[in-house]
Formats: sequence, C-alpha cells, structure tokens
Amino acid sequence: MTSLRRAKISVIGAGNVGATAAHLCALKELGDVVLVDIAEGIPQGKALDMYESTPVEAASHSVIGTNSYEPTKDSDVVIITAGIPRKPGMSRDDLLKTNAGIVKSVTEQVAKFSPNSILIIVSNPLDAMCLVAKKASNFPAHRVMGMAGVLDTARYRTFLAMEIGCSPDDIHALLLGGHGDTMVPLTRYTTVQGVPVADFVAADKLAKIVQRAKDGGIEIVNFLKTGSAYYAPAASAVEMAEAIIKDQKKIRPVCSYLQGEYGFKDVYLGVPVLLGAKGIEKIIEIKLNDEEKAMLQKSKEAVDSLIKIL
Ligand code: NAI
Ligand code: 2OP
Repeated sequence: MTSLRRAKISVIGAGNVGATAAHLCALKELGDVVLVDIAEGIPQGKALDMYESTPVEAASHSVIGTNSYEPTKDSDVVIITAGIPRKPGMSRDDLLKTNAGIVKSVTEQVAKFSPNSILIIVSNPLDAMCLVAKKASNFPAHRVMGMAGVLDTARYRTFLAMEIGCSPDDIHALLLGGHGDTMVPLTRYTTVQGVPVADFVAADKLAKIVQRAKDGGIEIVNFLKTGSAYYAPAASAVEMAEAIIKDQKKIRPVCSYLQGEYGFKDVYLGVPVLLGAKGIEKIIEIKLNDEEKAMLQKSKEAVDSLIKIL
C-alpha cells in the first residue's frame, strides 16, 4: 500500500488575509495548517478557534498557531501575508519599506525551515515583495510567486457577472501586469462561456467595469476604513495553493519572475502560468497587440520604480 502524506501549509501573518486563508485551507482539507504571527496569542487563539470548527465542518486536518517557525518545518506551501495593510489615502506602494523588512525577515525563517517549499506572496506592494522574497529565500523562480491576478480577475469577473446577470463562473478572463493601477485586463480575451464579452457588454460599459476592477482594492478600503480586503484575497491565494497541492495544472494569472518572457528580464509581473505540483510549471506567452504591449510596459515601469526605491 502506498502511504499518502498529508500536505502541510503554513500561513505567515494571522491578520485578516492570513487567518481567512488558513481557515479556508482547513475547510477545504488541503493539509495540516500552521498559522504564524509576531503578535503573541493571536495565531494561537485564532488557530485553536479554527481547529474547533473542524468537527462541525467534518474536516480532518489540524490547525496550529505559533509565534515561532519550528512548527512550519517541511511545509509544502507557504502563504506569506505578514505586513501592514492599506488605510484610506494610502496606496499599496506606501507600504513599500515597512513590508519589505517584514517580508525579508519572515522569508528567511520560512526558507530555513522549509527549503523545498513553494511560496505564495500576498503582502503589498505585491510585485516588489515577490522580488524581496525571492532574494531572501534564494529559491528558484518557479517556487516564488505572488497572488494578485487571481484576485484582480475575480473582481473583474464579479463586476461583469453583475452587469450581465450571469454566474461569475461563466466569465473567463485574463489579466496581465502588476498589482496596481497599471494592471492590464485583457478584454479581448474575456468571454462569457466562450462568447466574446463584447457581444454582451457595450464598449463604454466595459471600460467602466475594467476601471472598477483596477480600483477594486481601494473601493473596499474606502468602505472598511481600518484595513483592506481579505475574503476575496484569501480565497484567491488558497485557490493557488490548492492548484499546487493537488497538481491541478490550472492556468491562472500569477505574479511571476520573468526571465525574457514578454521581453522582460529579472522582474516580477503578472502573467498567465500553469500551476501544478512544481509551482509555476510554465509561463504562457500570449500574443499581445500594440496597445496591450504598451500597457504592460507601463506596468513594468511602475514596478521598476518601486524596486529602485528598495
Ligand atoms: P493585517 O494587518 O490584518 O494582518 C497582517 C498581520 O501580519 C498582522 O497580524 C501582523 O501582526 C502580522 N505581522 C506583521 N509583522 C510580522 C512579522 N514580522 N512576522 C509575522 N507576522 C507579522 O493585514 P491583512 O489585511 O491581512 O493584509 C496583509 C498584507 O496583504 C498587507 O500588506 C496587504 O496590503 C496585503 N494584501 C495583498 C493583496 C494582494 O492582492 N496581493 C490583497 C489583500 C491584502
Ligand atoms: C487589494 O487589492 C489591498 O491589494 C489589496 O485589495
């Protein structure tokens, strides 16, 4: 009989995104979950509370909370959410220096205890934090990625579904570029069950929906006032973790280290990739028109300007 090994997922940062992601991992039975935070008592209390929900949910994996990294040893996937979130009036980029220090230090610990893990970075500004994590871990590019495109397309798909009156699941969409105002939703590649979106939504409406997706993060910040979105971000990071743990070979927009793809080198940007057990198993290069190329170039320059500050 082959022995099945349970997957182990560590979530660093037990705040809004991290705790929600950890709970989703437990409910989906993706593996045993370890929740880490610098704040004493918070990961312990939240994890125990989650663990106590598993009998009710008929889920059978453990959830433990800790302030140290020993319990994360030999994790398969690590979701890094540690850092500070946005408040009204702040851009994602305002978080740059504080979060760079946090992401560097937590990644060093993660890499020490789980040298073979796959990292999914969530902390903002996302594209820059991925580069920080790659350098701090010294992991190969296919094992250090960022979550943004899944969230940004989820928002775009939701707004389209609201307009069309169909299920968001019927909307298929792709998006490129950084997680910021310069993200590039590809309306040309957006379909409603295979039918081009332009058959359902007029061009001016579509442009407004694209803009709302770009502003999706700040729309939530302006409602919440004390922090940023977390349900959709956590669900998006967990979808990526699930694709890796179950080797699903899903094609998703993922913040990836480009080494010549799309004409860019040594930079993290959102592009379509194949996600499977090895992490990013393939970067998919789609043909872009001149307008899309120009938008992607602008997005890359926005990411570069942050990297320069670091
Ligand atoms: P939060 O403030 O609720 O949680 C952050 C947690 O990180 C806190 O519990 C804090 O104690 C912890 N932390 C800080 N320094 C730490 C350290 N050195 N080691 C371990 N834990 C540490 O914030 P929230 O809402 O969970 O957001 C987390 C990050 O994710 C933010 O930077 C936010 O901007 C980003 N984010 C990114 C998204 C994306 O699409 N990539 C979407 C949503 C949030
Ligand atoms: C978001 O898009 C703040 O990046 C975060 O909600």
